[in-house]
Amino acid sequence: MRVFLLGATGTIGQAVLRALIARGHEVVALARSEASAGKIAQLGGAVVRGDIGTPGQWLPGLPDVDGVIQMACDFDSAMGETERHLLDGLLPRLAASRRKVRFIYTGGCWLFGSTGDNVATEDSALSPLPAFAWMVPHLQRVLESRDIDGIVIHPAMVYGGDGGVFRRFEQDARECRAIRVVGSEAVRWPLVHCDDLADLYALALERAAPQSTYLGVATEGVPVGKIARAVAHRVGVAVPVIDIVSEDAAAQELGEWARGYVCDQRLSGAKARKELGWAPIHLDPTRDVMELCA
Ligand SMILES: NC(=O)c1ccc[n+]([C@@H]2O[C@H](COP(=O)([O-])OP(=O)(O)OC[C@H]3O[C@@H](n4cnc5c(N)ncnc54)[C@H](OP(=O)(O)O)[C@@H]3O)[C@@H](O)[C@H]2O)c1
Repeated sequence: MRVFLLGATGTIGQAVLRALIARGHEVVALARSEASAGKIAQLGGAVVRGDIGTPGQWLPGLPDVDGVIQMACDFDSAMGETERHLLDGLLPRLAASRRKVRFIYTGGCWLFGSTGDNVATEDSALSPLPAFAWMVPHLQRVLESRDIDGIVIHPAMVYGGDGGVFRRFEQDARECRAIRVVGSEAVRWPLVHCDDLADLYALALERAAPQSTYLGVATEGVPVGKIARAVAHRVGVAVPVIDIVSEDAAAQELGEWARGYVCDQRLSGAKARKELGWAPIHLDPTRDVMELCA
């Protein structure tokens, strides 16, 4: 298939780009800078230069594609409006294609809110973190469109690759400061390694029924303190100091979206395993820390 990626240089996107190329797909990806264009080319993708905020500038040059995967996000206060504008331009362009395009939309685990001890599935009601509430009408729009074959993937917290959710812990530990954990060490994060998640995107692209939704979750809910302490141990901090940062302080430093770090969640990835044959191999994130922080 020829697949157009938005966000191909991100934590999720780079892994998806690699996985699609490895499976023999042709990738075309949006790049907003020379540096991003270079990364995409190096990974084997063709480049369309442009910014998701100005789709009118690059849509005319977009070749016909069989699939689109939206993983681009700026994490600024205008991110919802930017994506709405993107969909306003992109969806009609795809609807006018000669072939019906498969469109994977990236949501996220924070759309399910804190679950406590309950294990949320694709059938659970959404209770989005306010900073990402705009995703709900967007994913509904994708799923309800009859002009495309819409599919939604909600990734768990993603680790591995160049970025990922463990990097801040590693940076804190290496700079010999206390490791900052937002809220409490007991907060549980559902997790997935970027390479496993990329396999799920590829399987969904190739096999998922239109209008389906999948949770990309390899491990249901791991206490964040366990990860932070494993990172500290790995980088050689004998007695780790965990600095509990308030949700407000995190939001002030990083943006309102950072309140998601205190979502205490358990989520199930069983549907993707059963229906798509997804078989994530990274099932022990604390052990993965040993490799990632080497
Ligand atoms: N990472 C997670 O743990 C996680 C979990 C659940 C859901 N998600 C969701 O998954 C999506 C991707 O997350 P991520 O962690 O992979 O993000 P990321 O690492 O920050 O990557 C963002 C990607 O979007 C691109 N991008 C941002 N603004 C753009 C713009 N204006 N025009 C063109 N491209 C732009 C970036 O390009 P540049 O390289 O040029 O900056 C990069 O390729 C987000 O919607 C996020 O909410 C992430």
